[in-house]
Amino acid sequence: ICWAVVKDRFLVTGGARLEGSVKVSGAKNSVLKLMAAALLAEGTTTLTNCPEILDVPLMAEVLRGLGCEVSVDHETVRITTPATVSSDADFDAVRQFRASVCVLGPLTSRTGRAVVALPGGDAIGSRPLDMHQSGLEKLGATTYIRHGAVVAEATKLVGAEIELDFPSVGATENILTAAVLAEGRTVLENAAREPEIVDLCVMLRQMGAQLTGEGSPTIVIDGVDKLYPTQHEVIGDRIVAGTWAYAAAMTRGDITVSGIAPRHLHLPLEMLKFAGAQISSYENGFRVNMPHRPKAVDYQTLPFPGFPTDLQPMAIGISAIAEGTSVITENIFEARFRFVDEMMRLGADATVDGHHVVLRGVEQLSSTPVWSSDIRAGAGLVLAGLCADGETEVHDVYHIDRGYPNFVENLQQLGAKIERVSGPADPAPR
Ligand code: UD1
Repeated sequence: ICWAVVKDRFLVTGGARLEGSVKVSGAKNSVLKLMAAALLAEGTTTLTNCPEILDVPLMAEVLRGLGCEVSVDHETVRITTPATVSSDADFDAVRQFRASVCVLGPLTSRTGRAVVALPGGDAIGSRPLDMHQSGLEKLGATTYIRHGAVVAEATKLVGAEIELDFPSVGATENILTAAVLAEGRTVLENAAREPEIVDLCVMLRQMGAQLTGEGSPTIVIDGVDKLYPTQHEVIGDRIVAGTWAYAAAMTRGDITVSGIAPRHLHLPLEMLKFAGAQISSYENGFRVNMPHRPKAVDYQTLPFPGFPTDLQPMAIGISAIAEGTSVITENIFEARFRFVDEMMRLGADATVDGHHVVLRGVEQLSSTPVWSSDIRAGAGLVLAGLCADGETEVHDVYHIDRGYPNFVENLQQLGAKIERVSGPADPAPR
């Protein structure tokens, strides 16, 4: 990330009612895992509907470092995997973003050894890899952390019964991508059920993997000797779609979102109905129309099909301006309430108590400079700025750029007053 990009900020002027249509592109949390899964088969795998966000070229760099040829052409990514891939993913591109840990499973099963650099601290809380490691160990690998990298070694992987303590998305993915090439049957219990896991399983099956049960807590995988390259369309980004849904409700607007299966957002849309929004669902999208001030609703984040932690900042945003008091409970990431401090500086009436936050809704927020701490918190602050009087400066927007393609352009098209400004006018960087 170059410094010029880091210095970009958004100027958001509140007050506009957002109206119109917006199409979401492919899911960030799917495409990176699908790109890593291309390591499992020699030849050229093509992914379409890829989002144009920074993490995609970063992941391309990671795969190039492992010996693949990768081309990124707008929404199409082509990965040519050689007969022999490197085991060593201990280089700078890997350290730059946490999702690159998803090469651990494919590298272990394909090469028998994986060395994957670990990223630095995360603004949303500690993110250990114990379940990734113990899953691979059950399949016969030895794993350890050395010199800032996680190492997995296996002369042979053999299917096993694995029960996760918690349905971790990342651990489920790494176990799946290791078990598909293991000898024999793996039964994975308490697996994550997120739509992105289903997307990965669909692609693995197209590549020749034998597996059933994705989308349920039990996935059964029968290992095969070899997988083949494929062509696959990435599913729509439910978190980006959910952000637009909450933007409509918070600005008392009317937005039609396409490119997303509404069942992937069932609970967030239900919650908006409780808040008073009118929701229509279509085959490939939905419409949110909010005729009045939202009513307060309680939220708790849970693994899918529960309310996604990645939309928790939007739940806080809508509660900050709702009529009544809401309690929001975060059950997935310990430090995700850090951004509540920024919301309070925008005038939210919030009290944090452990993993709960109580919000007493106010009529209007009041603008001030704020700082994004992660992708979703950044987007949440922009939505809050749309509900504030005056002009809110949102800093550190490189976080937002990592998850939301054309965020400013999409918002402008929906009628928001927002612009991107580059340059050094940042008051005291923090
Ligand atoms: C993925 C998503 C992220 C989303 C999260 C939960 C990507 C790139 N990121 O992250 O946007 O917020 O799912 O839906 O897909 N944990 C352990 N030990 C482990 C693994 C996880 O304790 O070995 C804990 C984590 O610290 C966290 C919880 O389990 O508290 C959930 O993590 P997990 O589901 O693994 O999230 P990620 O895959 O990292």
